[in-house]
Amino acid sequence: MTDLATGERTFAETIERDQRVEPRDWMPDGYRKTMIRQIAQHAHSEIIGMQPEGGWITRAPSLRRKAILLAKVQDEAGHGLYLYSAAETLGADRGDLTRRLIEGRQKYSSIFNYPTLSFADVGVIGWLVDGAAICNQVPLCRSSYGPYARAMIRICKEESFHQRQGYELLMTMMRGSDEQRAMVQDAVDRWWWPSLMMFGPPDADSPNSAQSMAWRIKRHSNDDLRQRFVDMSAPQAEALGVTLPDPALKWNAEREHYDFGAIDWDEFKKVISGGGPLNRERIAHRKRADDEGAWVREAAAAHARKQREGARA
Ligand code: 3HC
Repeated sequence: MTDLATGERTFAETIERDQRVEPRDWMPDGYRKTMIRQIAQHAHSEIIGMQPEGGWITRAPSLRRKAILLAKVQDEAGHGLYLYSAAETLGADRGDLTRRLIEGRQKYSSIFNYPTLSFADVGVIGWLVDGAAICNQVPLCRSSYGPYARAMIRICKEESFHQRQGYELLMTMMRGSDEQRAMVQDAVDRWWWPSLMMFGPPDADSPNSAQSMAWRIKRHSNDDLRQRFVDMSAPQAEALGVTLPDPALKWNAEREHYDFGAIDWDEFKKVISGGGPLNRERIAHRKRADDEGAWVREAAAAHARKQREGARA
């Protein structure tokens, strides 16, 4: 058993040397707590994130689009499972985390509370939402907690497929009819600002950022990653032939970044506290799936118990 002084020193040296904290290492309670909070929020986001696009699988316009969308939604399920497993290495219980989500005691990404009104939304989610996820998650591949960083490496490889398929879908629609081009622009208008909110509140209003950066959980601030996403997306929008719904969006040669307009933080606060367009439906769907899956979990647990008893006999 590591004594406190040795534990604190070893932990501090590990962070200082930019090395990985592993499950069996001593860690401050606060580190464990915020890692479980962030990993759970991320895992919940992946699982809830299956809903907006999942509803379009049966309505995809071709077998090819259906197969791509199926693969993407399955990937999101896998991302959730890796992340719940990473949370379990910190002593969290997957069932308890699911209850916290359903009871509103843990969050999931605000972005998934918006409706997907046409198939163009599937493309825009791939391009903007998965694009924002890549901006936010690539630095997390260097997060100080080993199991989380390693899960991110695999997740980021799959996110880049998600982003590319979305952008390719939109390129195809933009070469189509006027109606298809209008569908794409309408989806961009609806998803642009909520995508900027994915990076979290402004740094000045982020209660977790300073400590998370000191512990090298987060490698960049919310605002820095948001700016990186805007700088990446603006030229992509131009190449696609769509207009991002921000009249203030403009390249600033002095800053060497795009300037952009004010984000509606009141909307953000409303959505993350449960008042978004589809929060209730998303949680009700998750609760139904959890209730309907209870028998599978009970059967698997009974089978595992029998296996253990058999092995002991
Ligand atoms: N939606 C919901 N809650 C949000 C949020 C958002 N967009 N942004 C911030 N919050 C919450 C935080 O969770 C925190 O609440 P809590 O203390 O109850 O958990 C509070 O708002 C204050 O925010 P902070 O900036 O202080 O919190 P963090 O330091 O945790 O930063 C974060 C927020 C940048 C989202 C960070 O948690 C993070 O990087 N998480 C991991 C990555 C992630 O979750 N990405 C988005 C969803 S996954 C996804 O996109 C799936 C893909 O397949 C599309």
